[in-house]
Amino acid sequence: MELSPKTWFMPVGASSIAGEVDWLFYFITWMSVAFFVIVTACTVYFLFKYKRKPGEKPGLTIPLHHNTVLEIVWTVIPTILVFFIFIWGFRSFMGLFVIPAGAEEVRVQAAQWSWTFRHNVGGSGNESKSNNLHVPAGRPIKLHLSSSDVLHSLFIPDFRVKMDLVPNRTTSLWFTALEEGEYDLYCTEYCGEKHSRMLARVYVMPEEEYKQWVWDNAKVATGKEIYDTKCSACHSLEAGNSEMAPTWHNLYGRTETLSDGTTIEVLDDYIWESIRYPHLKIVDGFEARARMAPFPKQSLSDEEVENIIGFMKGLSDYKADEASEDPKP
Ligand code: CUA
Repeated sequence: MELSPKTWFMPVGASSIAGEVDWLFYFITWMSVAFFVIVTACTVYFLFKYKRKPGEKPGLTIPLHHNTVLEIVWTVIPTILVFFIFIWGFRSFMGLFVIPAGAEEVRVQAAQWSWTFRHNVGGSGNESKSNNLHVPAGRPIKLHLSSSDVLHSLFIPDFRVKMDLVPNRTTSLWFTALEEGEYDLYCTEYCGEKHSRMLARVYVMPEEEYKQWVWDNAKVATGKEIYDTKCSACHSLEAGNSEMAPTWHNLYGRTETLSDGTTIEVLDDYIWESIRYPHLKIVDGFEARARMAPFPKQSLSDEEVENIIGFMKGLSDYKADEASEDPKP
């Protein structure tokens, strides 16, 4: 599908629905122009045709009764036109409001006077939050709308979509952006003093770039928060290993004996590997109980792993500087 170009009436049409909306708009506009011209031309023509000629005596107008043919014509033609507009309009209306299955959902919160856009970050329970809307190109996007105070309305002129955000109620809106680029988003319902400044940008990006953006923008928890939610069931922070797993107390920099008899110094590399692939190198004594599930990138981002390592370092007496001065043989 192609973008419809900017015209005297309309901005660029950058969504899948824009073409249809514009067609109906132009149809109604030009039809109105045509009837305006016809009616005005007739008025002007009759004005001169029936003007009293010089010397003509004022007389009575010829009595006119109804004209069946004329009355049928002026009833039937407008009825057909109005039905045509209704059917076309209703089809477009359904297209605008029936959200396709599998649309990418973005939750939108309006407040005096700002926008907040939230994206779920695949499976991790984290969310990505922004004051501008970021979406992938070529895929249906569902906006789930709510307001925390008064009535607002979200309007993206280039996409030809608009919907109210009502307090204590949710509404929704969908579109498919056709091309990458930047577009304007307005609040289009008067919502108080700074209504006119309630603006945002829509960034339409390639799919891959969008996914990356969501990840990068996600609120990444601190190491302690991640430990509390994902690690504390098995790993303790006290001295002495728990039943299930090695303790994190003084773990960073410790030399562990593995189940195959070799030893390893617990530094960044081994921690990374043990989070992504926990079964590769198991600490001696835990073979039978090693039940940790791997954490792929989708459930624990690289940044979160770094935060965990940072937290572990804080629990350890190990000093990197001492180690480098006294390298292991
Ligand atoms: Cu929000 Cu106007």
